[in-house]
Amino acid sequence: MSEIVVALRDVWKYYTIESRPVAVLRGVSATIKRGEIVGIHGPSGAGKTTLLKIMAGLEKPDRGEVVVDGYLLTALDDKALATLRNTVIGFVPQDAGLIEELTVFENIELPLLIAGVDKEERRKRVEELIEYIGLRGREKALPKYLSGGERQRVAIARALANTPSVILADEPTANLDWANAKRVLQLFDRIRRDFGTTIVIVTHDPRVLEFTDRKFLLEDGLLREIPGL
Ligand SMILES: Nc1ncnc2c1ncn2[C@@H]1O[C@H](COP(=O)(O)OP(=O)(O)OP(=O)(O)O)[C@@H](O)[C@H]1O
Ligand SMILES: [Mg+2]
Repeated sequence: MSEIVVALRDVWKYYTIESRPVAVLRGVSATIKRGEIVGIHGPSGAGKTTLLKIMAGLEKPDRGEVVVDGYLLTALDDKALATLRNTVIGFVPQDAGLIEELTVFENIELPLLIAGVDKEERRKRVEELIEYIGLRGREKALPKYLSGGERQRVAIARALANTPSVILADEPTANLDWANAKRVLQLFDRIRRDFGTTIVIVTHDPRVLEFTDRKFLLEDGLLREIPGL
C-alpha cells in the first residue's frame, strides 16, 4: 500500500488576469499513495479546481512535473492524455458534468464506448455499476430527474467505469445536504476498499475532511499538509 500513485513536483500555473500573469499555483509538491483518500481544502479561488485539472491532465502546468500511476503527464501529447483520462484517471467535475441529453445508463456507458468495449460487455458493466451506486431502476432516467446526490453518484459511476487507479472529485458534496453528502463520501470509501482506488476530493467543506486519510490546505498558491488529529 506504499506505492505512490500521484506525484506533483514543483507545479506552477499562471493565468492572465486583467492582462497580467498571476501565479495561481506557486510550486506545489505532494505525493499520494495507492488506496489513500486525500482531501484538498482551501478558500474559493485558491486554485483547487486548477490543481485537480492538472492532476487529471486537463490543464498543463507552466512548470513542474505531474506523475499519475507511473505516467509523466507533462510529457504526453493530447492523444495519450485523452486515453489516460479514460482509463487510469476518473474525473468527477465540480457540477457532476453529466450529459443532460443522455440517460443514466448512457452517461455511465460513455467511457466504455470510448474505450472500445463491446456492447454486451458494456451492458453488463453499466448494470453492475448502477447496482453498485444504488440506482437500479433509474437506468432510463435523464439527469434532470435525479436529485443532487443521485447525480453525483452517477458521475462517480462514470468515473469508475474503466476501473481507474485514481478518482479526482471536485466538490462532490457541494449543494448536498449532509445526509446525502455522507452517502457520497461513504461511496468513495467503499470504492477504495473494493478496488484499491486512490481518491482525491477537493472541498471547501471542512466536515468532508473528517472522512479523508490525509488533509491538505491550498492557500497562497501552496499546498500544505494539515497534520492528522
Ligand atoms: N481559465 C482561466 N483563465 C483565467 N483565470 C482562471 C482560469 N481558471 C481559473 N482562473 C483563476 O484562477 C484562480 C483559481 O481558480 P480555481 O477555479 O482553480 O479556484 P477554486 O479554488 O477551485 O475556487 P472555487 O472554490 O470557487 O471552486 C481564480 O482566481 C480564477 O479566477
Ligand atoms: Mg473550484
